[in-house]
Amino acid sequence: MQLSFVSLALALLFSSFTSNAFTFERIDKNNSMLLVVDHQLGLFQLVRDFGPDEYRNNILAHAAAGKVFNLPTILTTSAETGPNGPLPREILEMHPNAPYIKRQGEVNAWDNADFRAAVKATGKKQVIMAGIVTDVCTTFLALSLVQEGYTVFANADASGTFSAQVAANANDRMRAAGVNVVSQFAVTTDLMRDWRDTPGALELLPYYDTYLTQYGFVARAHAFAVANGTIQPGESV
Ligand SMILES: *[C@@H]1O[C@H](CO)[C@@H](O)[C@H](O)[C@H]1NC(C)=O
Ligand SMILES: *[C@@H]1O[C@H](CO)[C@@H](O)[C@H](O)[C@H]1NC(C)=O
Repeated sequence: MQLSFVSLALALLFSSFTSNAFTFERIDKNNSMLLVVDHQLGLFQLVRDFGPDEYRNNILAHAAAGKVFNLPTILTTSAETGPNGPLPREILEMHPNAPYIKRQGEVNAWDNADFRAAVKATGKKQVIMAGIVTDVCTTFLALSLVQEGYTVFANADASGTFSAQVAANANDRMRAAGVNVVSQFAVTTDLMRDWRDTPGALELLPYYDTYLTQYGFVARAHAFAVANGTIQPGESV
């Protein structure tokens, strides 16, 4: 009797701990900023966990997401007049008015006072970020941002490094600190929430047509089928 009371009390205690253990914090387009961290032409050469064409696509997709959702966007580079080099001109052309913090030596962007001020000036509490390399530029900044109370969404598609193993270890380290390691598709669909919103299908299908070929081609094939398609023999079962 006494024993079963104790085990019941323990079960209740356990369920009260576990039932609230997780809160799904969704990315809110009204409360988020986008950081482009060290996607520099020189550092690009270090990235070996993606092919170069895929990785170029992914860093442009990351920057373009800020444009589609009109997010406050901050660009930063590390010692760009040295071997690290500049940002790709495509990214600069997308964000001509974004704060652009050219760090002279700080590895962790959070160590730079101008960068910290630019992040704080957005007034937002959620950070979508990606950088080269994953284990240093992305991870160090992500950990500093979590420590400062921000919710961080690290876009793993647009963070690159020396090997898949190095990326996996860096992503584990970030997750252990509460960073959300996510894909580009997860970022943009969470920002959108509903295809009927604005930005919604009208803005996102062209974005996917440019940066996510599978989705773009599905949409094109569907448009063609509706406008000009016919049912082939054997197709409608
Ligand atoms: C963002 O703000 C707009 C305008 O106030 C509002 O309609 C919308 O629901 C908000 N979106 C989210 C995800 O909170
Ligand atoms: C359907 O065919 C017309 C006429 O050839 C063409 O102009 C149009 O682009 C086609 N639509 C699609 C979605 O391919």
